Amino acid sequence: MTLPPFQSSVQSTTVSFDRISDIYDTTRALPAGISEQVTETILNIVSPTSETKFFETGIGTGRIAFPILQRGYSYTGVDVSDKMLDELRRKLQGINHRATLINADATTLPFDDNSFDVAITVHVFHLISNWQKALAEVRRVLKPGGLYLYSHGRMTSATDITQDQLDFEQQWRTILASYNHQVTRFGATEEEVLDALLQQGATLETIVPAKWRVDLTLGDLLKRYENRIFSAAWYIPDDIFPRAFQDLREWSLQHFGSLDYDLSHEAKFKLTIIRNWG
Ligand SMILES: C[S@@+](CC[C@H](N)C(=O)[O-])C[C@H]1O[C@@H](n2cnc3c(N)ncnc32)[C@H](O)[C@@H]1O
Repeated sequence: MTLPPFQSSVQSTTVSFDRISDIYDTTRALPAGISEQVTETILNIVSPTSETKFFETGIGTGRIAFPILQRGYSYTGVDVSDKMLDELRRKLQGINHRATLINADATTLPFDDNSFDVAITVHVFHLISNWQKALAEVRRVLKPGGLYLYSHGRMTSATDITQDQLDFEQQWRTILASYNHQVTRFGATEEEVLDALLQQGATLETIVPAKWRVDLTLGDLLKRYENRIFSAAWYIPDDIFPRAFQDLREWSLQHFGSLDYDLSHEAKFKLTIIRNWG
């Protein structure tokens, strides 16, 4: 089961998360125990010392960085959204940390070559149209022999998606197409990034540090769409959105029967460890 591809009608070179910085953590946080598992997995892979320098492009509110910063490691992050960075700065208040947070674009990093021991990118390459340049920048700032940890970040991968989710997403795209709007994909797919890394001679190992159950009803899912919490919804013109959403709501109630319809599913955090590349 796979989703049909997005139309690649790029309208922007990057997607800042300014507009949802205040709700990012409540809508995207990993469950507490899961966040711990992800952090422990990263630290086991890296075996950091107090000298280790972490770097993350698109650090956001620190979903991945914060628990590592709490443990006292040196961690530099860039993001194009000041508001996302401010959320992370707020969480770091009162904590003895070694964070360097800079507003910068992934495609032009303000660092010297060979600056970091570990680079991390989570759920950001799908947002950057010139993702090849962003990848080249990660490689440039990574020390020779450095580790790169990549997570495309969609927690339910296209191959694991349930038929119900597939029907829902497909219907949303069909409705939008009826209003002459194609859902936009800005940046890379996971396959494109991993293929590029392989072509550059890197060694890849993909692991799943954590799996968990997401409890979700049709009503919950419709609320998320209505509130436009997903970046793909930010570029639907405002004159189309309310009508398209109303169509989606009507179709969903007819198709699934009730707002209480159970759309719970398994989510997983997938991480690719990239070696022999820096
Ligand atoms: C989906 S969030 C992920 C944040 C974090 N990595 C996480 O996993 O929670 C994507 C982040 O990338 C940032 N971003 C998007 N395009 C960027 C770019 N070209 N350069 C730097 N940051 C970018 C957004 O502002 C947002 O904070």
